Amino acid sequence: MTSRRKKIYEGKAKILYEGPEPGTLIQYFKDDATAFNGEKKAQLEGKGVINNRISEYIMTRLAGIGVQNHFIKRMNLREQLIKEVEIIPLEVVCRNIAAGSLSKRFGIEEGQPLPRSIIEFYLKDDKLNDPMVSEEHITAFNWAQTQEIDDMMAATLRVNDYLCGMFAAVGITLVDFKVEFGRLYEGDFSRVILADEISPDSCRLWDSTTNEKMDKDRFRRDLGGVIESYTEVARRLGIMKEMPTVIQGGIH
Ligand code: TMP
Repeated sequence: MTSRRKKIYEGKAKILYEGPEPGTLIQYFKDDATAFNGEKKAQLEGKGVINNRISEYIMTRLAGIGVQNHFIKRMNLREQLIKEVEIIPLEVVCRNIAAGSLSKRFGIEEGQPLPRSIIEFYLKDDKLNDPMVSEEHITAFNWAQTQEIDDMMAATLRVNDYLCGMFAAVGITLVDFKVEFGRLYEGDFSRVILADEISPDSCRLWDSTTNEKMDKDRFRRDLGGVIESYTEVARRLGIMKEMPTVIQGGIH
């Protein structure tokens, strides 16, 4: 399925196309998987289809509890219509349990519950390998304003509370996740809303009973069964019941 629309931006896992009307874009989910800043690459057939559905489901539920986000509607297997925003060049990470770069940086064993949820900011800049930044850096270099930082932190904590409960209800522990925000302009004013995607590419999800990884760490760490795990996440959330046939059918 290729689009004839004008390409606005291509990232590692998604492409943004011009939308059908001003203020909208189409977000296309690719099957490309990358890790370690693009050093490791693969095509995982069906990943884009699953992430499109999981992200739709999560963004819709978040909108339902008042967390404003860019999602408008899903258009087909790989595309969704979204509101056009000015992306804030930060990755906002929220952690409940030690894992990944936090474990490495501070020497805390993976799986150790954190004393409280921790929010971190990383600068979205592949050339610099997405360095961690402080609020001082963010305001001094004008990547975001103090009020925007406060709004992003409050929204991220709400997302965390809600998603922890949503995943716990289906036997999955939300270890950590990354979100991105964008500015939605209304006249002279702008407000910060949730953008990008929320999927097993951007979360750490562990089976609550076995602690088995059900997210992109399966790809990063060569554990195999990546698509099977993403599909299981979707199945437990009650979506994508038709997924196995979609994968076998080789939808592009
Ligand atoms: P980290 O432990 O590698 O810093 O990752 C923290 C969380 O952020 C984890 O859920 C994976 C997610 N993440 C992304 O979505 N994109 C990235 O580029 C990185 C480094 C992490």
